Amino acid sequence: METLLMNAQEPGCAEAAAKIIREGGLVAIPTETVYGLGANGLDPEAVSKIFIAKGRPNDNPLILHIADASQIDDLCHDVPESAYRLAERFWPGPLTMVLPAKSCVPQETTAGLSTVAVRCPDSPVTREIIRLAGVPLAAPSANLSGKPSTTTAGHVYHDHAGKIPMIVDGGPCRVGVESTIVDLTEKRPRLLRPGGITPQQLIAVLGDLVVDKAVTAQIDKDAVVKAPGMKYRHYAPACQVVIVSGTSRKAAECIRTLYKPGDRVLCFEEELSLFEGLAPLSYGKAADLNSLSAGLFAALRELDDPAVHKVYARCPEGDGIAYAIQNRLKKAAAFQVIDPEDIL
Ligand code: TXA
Ligand code: MG
Repeated sequence: METLLMNAQEPGCAEAAAKIIREGGLVAIPTETVYGLGANGLDPEAVSKIFIAKGRPNDNPLILHIADASQIDDLCHDVPESAYRLAERFWPGPLTMVLPAKSCVPQETTAGLSTVAVRCPDSPVTREIIRLAGVPLAAPSANLSGKPSTTTAGHVYHDHAGKIPMIVDGGPCRVGVESTIVDLTEKRPRLLRPGGITPQQLIAVLGDLVVDKAVTAQIDKDAVVKAPGMKYRHYAPACQVVIVSGTSRKAAECIRTLYKPGDRVLCFEEELSLFEGLAPLSYGKAADLNSLSAGLFAALRELDDPAVHKVYARCPEGDGIAYAIQNRLKKAAAFQVIDPEDIL
């Protein structure tokens, strides 16, 4: 099939996308976090096309994207008051809430769970598509399953050209890492995935937050987890990725002793000169954490190349958006971190 790549600003773009959605087809959509691969989230047949296009395991549920907070009650029951407060504060924006699902949400979307994830994305064209389609949009990150997420329309075209009818080009994604997921179905709110909304911001509204163990540690593939997606190898180029901690100078010294031809270094722009001769690739400025989150997946995709043997990666420290970057890089590295003090 021919894949129509249409700029979000072009007249008729949202209408064309909504028509495909209403007819049960797939459309790749821009959001502020990453591009999504969208379908009518209430139509089991449409939803199953997403799993096929991505090669996604069907025990991994999808997020329903809505145009505004009033749609929460169409899809969820027993919604706690805290959900409305979070929506009021952070929507449209990079926050997903897990809530009890109403029976109108098909099992294909929730992967059989009794809960459903909902989010209102901060992309005017995508909200317009949802409004015009008149249905919530089920949309996982548009990357092929297991690969780094898609943060430009070009990334989506690379993964799905000829396989989906339409890609809406809304430019590069501003945040660059997927939404924060918070589960509100238990006594205490639980962070399932860090993202653009930080734990500190959530605590300011909720007064409380438990961090799920899948956020900070490797999860066994047979384990029962809250967010099924968290147990799969994720966000990773084909080769091995190892994080090297410590100061720029120590890390450079350490990587120089380990480096072999074919290896690459993923670093901060400020460090490029320190890694001269080691094929460094910068993903943003250490002094501007937002540039790192926005650049991370494009860099990981560039490193997803059979010619690359191993990637030594530098990771920002601290909280805020750095916490989400650490989570994605640690998952890409299967939690392998080298401390230069152990090598030098
Ligand atoms: O920023 C985002 O959230 C992007 C854009 C497109 O909106 N979407 C995204 O979707 O990252 P995906 O499918 O790549 O990641 C969704 C995660 C998966 O780990 C999945 O297991 C989890 O959300 N999830 C979905 N529904 C859930 C539920 N009912 N309970 C727990 N986790 C859920
Ligand atoms: Mg994903």
